[in-house]
Amino acid sequence: MFSKKEIIERLSMRDENDVKELFTEAYRTKLQFVGNKVFFRGIVELSNLCTKDCYYCGIRKSNLNVQRYEMTKEEVVESALWAYKNSYGSVVLQSGERSDPKFAAMITDVIREIKTRSQGKLGITLSLGEQTHDTYKRWYDEGAHRYLLRIETSNEQLYKACHPQDHTLEQRLSCLKDLKDIGYQAGTGVLIGLPGQTLEHLADDIIFFKEFDIDMIGMGPYIIHADTPFSIHRNDVNHRYNFETALKMIAICRIMLKDINIASTTALQAIDPLGREMGLQAGANIIMPIISDTKYREMYQLYQDKPCMDENADQCRDCLGRRVASIGETIGFNEWGDSPHYKKRRDPKNAKVDNVTDGSC
Ligand code: 5AD
Repeated sequence: MFSKKEIIERLSMRDENDVKELFTEAYRTKLQFVGNKVFFRGIVELSNLCTKDCYYCGIRKSNLNVQRYEMTKEEVVESALWAYKNSYGSVVLQSGERSDPKFAAMITDVIREIKTRSQGKLGITLSLGEQTHDTYKRWYDEGAHRYLLRIETSNEQLYKACHPQDHTLEQRLSCLKDLKDIGYQAGTGVLIGLPGQTLEHLADDIIFFKEFDIDMIGMGPYIIHADTPFSIHRNDVNHRYNFETALKMIAICRIMLKDINIASTTALQAIDPLGREMGLQAGANIIMPIISDTKYREMYQLYQDKPCMDENADQCRDCLGRRVASIGETIGFNEWGDSPHYKKRRDPKNAKVDNVTDGSC
């Protein structure tokens, strides 16, 4: 276990050999605790309507340059079933944040229908922001079993600097706690390279992940979006630096948290064409290919230069398959790929540390 000082030392590493050694240690830990199987979560970006106004995000409600869309229930279900037919073990349903009853009811129906039409076999992760305990519970009872809610930063001051006053870290943390209490595999993450963020903040984020005992992490480099208040920082943001720091964050999280799932996020590939492969080599074990129709992708740009904008789901699957094979890893088709950490947390007696095949569909 690294101390805060040791985490900061690693995040500030510049020597190429030192960084390589860090990644080697992370990869060794990954092989030991989760194996070299990559799990695909097909992501359906079902709507860009958003009630939030985060200063860094391209689909914030005040961005009037975005054409808003909402997929129909049928479209969402059909996308998810594409994933099922193509042997993806799970889907992620993601959208801008909304908590109105109509939205909650639509998601409930979608979960039920996906579960019915896949005979309960397709795993469902939700990434739908802050909701009430009741809504989370209803979705869980319908069959969703993992939830991703990034806290963006664990630092109160920095959170305030990146969000309007009515968005609070306290609320975010309370939601994360609800998710865990209900029984979801709980995932969170932060943005790496936010204006005003220091390596000390990032070290605290990792310590937070550990102390909160989370099951999954999805985090990535902050990337400028022109139509946001944070575009004023465009000359100060160093995307390459954010990318390199993000890889080190993945590696340190793998070494310290060992048996959790860590996503190699699309934002890595927006900065480097081989970004997602590099994320896997630094310790990540999950990839989330976008499977919603290409006609919606342009309207779901949280940051600029998002990759895979015009590749349909079939092309995306083939391309990612080649990328995974190129680094000698395999894909866990037809498996949920649940985080071994979650199993251990829920049932310490029966969990096998190296269990990478349970929860298969
Ligand atoms: N750069 C990188 N990631 C971003 N997100 C939002 N805006 C940006 C950006 N400009 C991330 C947030 C959010 C997730 C869905 O997308 O962390 O939680």
